[in-house]
Amino acid sequence: MNQNSPERIYLSPPCMIGNEREMLLDAFDSNWIAPLGPHVNAFEVEFAQRVGTKHAVALSCGTAAIHLALIIAGVEQGDTVITSSFTFVATANAITYAGATPIFIDSESDSWNLDPDLVAVALEEGLQAGKLPKAVLAVDIVGQTADYERLQSVCARYGVPIIEDAAEALGASYQGRSAGQFGEMGCFSFNGNKIITTSGGGMLVTDREDWALKARFLATQARDPAPHYEHSHIGYNYRMSNLLAAIGRAQLENLNVHVENRRAIFNRYRDHLGKLPGIELMPEPEGWYSTRWLTILTIDPASFGATTNDVRLALEQENIEARPAWKPMHQQPIFANCKMYGGSVCERFFEQGLCLPSGTSLSEEQQMRVIEIVQSLQST
Ligand SMILES: Cc1ncc(COP(=O)(O)O)c(C=O)c1O
Repeated sequence: MNQNSPERIYLSPPCMIGNEREMLLDAFDSNWIAPLGPHVNAFEVEFAQRVGTKHAVALSCGTAAIHLALIIAGVEQGDTVITSSFTFVATANAITYAGATPIFIDSESDSWNLDPDLVAVALEEGLQAGKLPKAVLAVDIVGQTADYERLQSVCARYGVPIIEDAAEALGASYQGRSAGQFGEMGCFSFNGNKIITTSGGGMLVTDREDWALKARFLATQARDPAPHYEHSHIGYNYRMSNLLAAIGRAQLENLNVHVENRRAIFNRYRDHLGKLPGIELMPEPEGWYSTRWLTILTIDPASFGATTNDVRLALEQENIEARPAWKPMHQQPIFANCKMYGGSVCERFFEQGLCLPSGTSLSEEQQMRVIEIVQSLQST
């Protein structure tokens, strides 16, 4: 690495721009540390309002939210669940926690998410084989939702519920409705790199009160109502702590600022890099509103004159973090035996895709450093 490089530029670091410190101290000073408390309740109410669902359940992470959503949807040992191959591993891992096996689907080029036509093929094959998948776990990748109008019509035909993995898409919308509203349940993450963070945390949203209650029950070791500890279900320790909820409330207040900044960052990349030969940015089709949580571009080396890896290493040399796009799940050793429908679209995203620094606090000057390095590698 160039020893004279300025301070490292990270991909998507946490950004505390509001009342996070005051809220955290309030939680601390009130001694509601053990671990639930008033900030958890308030965060749930405010989050549900923002997403537009009736209920929200604050959890220890997004993976826990997906795991509980699958259990509540009735996914059991031996079932199958359809999901996107182009996702972070947590999506597929949660399916295995529920004892089920993932069936992977390629992305479509428009939204980069689950291809509804291939979902229809997988569901029809399941029906013919007498074993319909129990759920479709649709992922909203890097701040952009799947095509829910088409997905919902396909899934309704087969009576298979949708669960929305909106871990990366808080603040996004589709046809005027917020991410998180499109499945029977929606799951969010507040991991350190997400658009808002509680350092680690997650949220399950739903319109059904009985499911919200069941999620809270399962997330607190499934304690039956009794003065002593009585258990008739396997439970989990998945609740969010009051301290982290306090941070989350302050972060949520500024969600729009985070989204606007990231969209501005995306636009600047598009303006400076979008016209270079071989470079494409993730599209935002009509009717979609993406948060641009991360800017991902694809680089065709034959047209650009350098590979994605060349660009990544050149950035690293200047102390700038960039990451290859998600390696599809069907190409991961642990999921090698799972069924896959299609594959060429998401395989190209992995071969050519690069996530560029996109954090809310990225300054214009820092971003221009990134842009100039990418431009300098173009050699055709
Ligand atoms: C698509 C997707 N699903 C699930 C998760 C899991 O969230 P968490 O890290 O909060 O468990 C993440 C992020 O980490 C994600 O990007």
